[in-house]
Amino acid sequence: MNCTDTHVVSSSSGHCANDAAAEAVSAADAEDGNGQRSRSVPVAAAKPNSGLKPCPLRAPLVVTTVGLPCRGKSLASHKVARHLSWRGESAKVFNVESNATADTLHEISAFFKEGNNVAIIDGMHLTRSSRQLLINFCAEQLFHHLLIEFSCNDQCLRENIDDTVKFYHQLDQNIDWERRIKENNERLTPRFEPCSPLEGPMITVNNSEDPMFHSVTARGVRGSIQTNILGVLASPVIRQQTFYFSRHGESEFNVLGRIGGDADLSPRGMKYAERLARQLGGPGSAPDCPKPKLIWTSELRRTIRTVQNIPGPRAAIKDLNEINAGICEGLTYEEIQERFPQEFAWRDQDKFKYRYPHGESYLDLLQRVDSVVQALLANTDVLVVSHQAVLRCIMAYFKGTKPDDVPYINVPLHTLLIVRSYGYDFKVETVPLKVECVDTYRIQPKNCSTSRTTADALTTVPAHFDTPLSQQMPTTIS
Ligand code: G3H
Repeated sequence: MNCTDTHVVSSSSGHCANDAAAEAVSAADAEDGNGQRSRSVPVAAAKPNSGLKPCPLRAPLVVTTVGLPCRGKSLASHKVARHLSWRGESAKVFNVESNATADTLHEISAFFKEGNNVAIIDGMHLTRSSRQLLINFCAEQLFHHLLIEFSCNDQCLRENIDDTVKFYHQLDQNIDWERRIKENNERLTPRFEPCSPLEGPMITVNNSEDPMFHSVTARGVRGSIQTNILGVLASPVIRQQTFYFSRHGESEFNVLGRIGGDADLSPRGMKYAERLARQLGGPGSAPDCPKPKLIWTSELRRTIRTVQNIPGPRAAIKDLNEINAGICEGLTYEEIQERFPQEFAWRDQDKFKYRYPHGESYLDLLQRVDSVVQALLANTDVLVVSHQAVLRCIMAYFKGTKPDDVPYINVPLHTLLIVRSYGYDFKVETVPLKVECVDTYRIQPKNCSTSRTTADALTTVPAHFDTPLSQQMPTTIS
């Protein structure tokens, strides 16, 4: 089974977490899979003056997981791959039942030749020789190599085994899966040779859902990608998570087609705030409705007003503020085209990397919301009310969207998005709350040239009103 590309939103199983389960119950996984003993030098490859070529700084990275079954290797591998892909690296998990084989190495070489740069081999690699094979391979190919060894405290192990049993029970109810997993664990434990510092750069993770017991140590970790991996592994993987996301209710600026600013809600936006509160434990809600444990907004009025009737502890977070449009703050798209036609075209040419003069790009924003996403992942039942561009960046993490597509993710106004975890996958449910509002979604126009006509530049601008709703005539939408 090789269900691993994190660009895919949700695999049909959603329980590839239980690729780990395959190893937990496999009868064939006891042996050192390749049956190969590799020559014993490669650690020297990492040492100065060894005579071997050093790895270029931006050389591809092979990450090898190590650990007995049900220690959380698959969940962590996919969490790392998702995070790296979201941040613009090109990472993929290669699931192997016990150890990487020659076929795995061919697949990885081909993956790197296509321009990708991080391969995570999710397998047990219990023996030193099975790891040595990979260390040799990386030394010869000039790839970086990082080992990640996983262990678990007792409670975490019990919960991991329970999850695995539940997964297999759905497939075949005639087998005592719990017994099979435990026997497999007992059989493999004496064969496990824990990683030694001589094996090269490594991270050791002792998994627990309780952050006070979850611990991580690192040796020889270097460079931004390995440091990012260390950061992702530093907080526990929470087993079942639900998050609620919404844009603020329609603002007075939305009505007028203006971007940025700190406008208040329109009358329809206020109605949405009431409707949202009714969904999430506020006045008029059903007794069994979900109640967020934490409410995070931006520091801007329109998000704070949107959650005012929702009960729960709240925080206004600067990193959730809307993209800073710099010299274009407060303008309509028509005004941007009129005053800065070249800027408007450049943005259409590469909306992800384009940075507003004195403002931000989506690339900047992705970096800004990284800490929010990391904080979210350490929690559950959080409601985040923020803005179109910011929520695009956050939803990209859960959807596995490629960076260039992030600025075109549709996050409509007056819509609740519910994200639930399934193993290492996330599924997004879209719940429109049926309160009328303007549409603020502008697709990329066909003509993005700096010499295009104004009509071409404005062809995809969504309709909006010319005066605030309170003053408008019924026919002023343009
Ligand atoms: O500028 C504020 C908008 O919410 C972001 O929209 O990036 O599609 O122009 P845009």
